[in-house]
Amino acid sequence: MAQLELQGLSVQFGGLRAVDGLDLSLEQGELRCLLGPNGAGKSTTLDLICGRTTPTGGAILFDGRDMTRLPVFKRARVGIGRKFQTPTVFRELTVVENLEIARSARPGVLSSLTVFRSRLQGRMREVLDLVELGDELHTKAGNLSHGQMQWLEIAMLLMQDARLILMDEPTAGMTIQETRKTGEIFNSLKGSHTMIVVEHDMSFVRQIAETVTVMDQGGLLAQGSIEEVENDPAVREAYLGDGGNGHA
Ligand SMILES: Nc1ncnc2c1ncn2[C@@H]1O[C@H](COP(=O)(O)OP(=O)(O)OP(=O)(O)O)[C@@H](O)[C@H]1O
Ligand SMILES: [Mg+2]
Repeated sequence: MAQLELQGLSVQFGGLRAVDGLDLSLEQGELRCLLGPNGAGKSTTLDLICGRTTPTGGAILFDGRDMTRLPVFKRARVGIGRKFQTPTVFRELTVVENLEIARSARPGVLSSLTVFRSRLQGRMREVLDLVELGDELHTKAGNLSHGQMQWLEIAMLLMQDARLILMDEPTAGMTIQETRKTGEIFNSLKGSHTMIVVEHDMSFVRQIAETVTVMDQGGLLAQGSIEEVENDPAVREAYLGDGGNGHA
């Protein structure tokens, strides 16, 4: 059974069908790159999955459970996490404090305080190692570099036990080194976490891609390996139709 399933998902803004009958299915642990020209409906699709936008049609299933009408916080509770372009970290708090807050936002965690504390330490250590923020434990989040702040937000999602992580242009504003490092983090989350990554930077997509889904005008245009979609005439046409503004 797929972990995430979108069935004929649609949302209309006034007369505009921003997402139009989208079917999409993701297995647990897979990383899916979501591409498409400007205005294709990629960000809106993430909004629909995390609950920020209510669909006008179709359904969203996660682990077979119907999420279609659940509010954002309930979806977060079952493990759907969204990383925003402006990180939602607490800038005045340190890295560790941010991670502690993220962890305590997780339900049912206070069953035994001592067990909780030692598990927290273990899990936090793992997460800090993964995002390489182990040397910045007591740095205020507001003083981190741009890339480090993005990784802290990913770390916070991991501390909340997010199982499906949605990311919209996560490498925007990053240096080449930071982008590379972000790719390594995503690659090491494959298998344990399911990810949807909206991205225009094709060299980054090449670093992380498994299956790639291309959207256009709210619908599914193509799906397959990066080579398959790059050689797909319909995909080329969609990007050209964008006036050459598409970045793929
Ligand atoms: N809240 C909204 N109200 C009205 N129209 C919207 C709203 N959100 C998005 N749209 C429109 O829906 C369409 C899809 O937008 P969306 O932001 O999902 O595209 P995108 O694929 O993320 O594009 P980009 O690559 O430029 O980020 C666009 O035409 C956009 O103007
Ligand atoms: Mg977008």
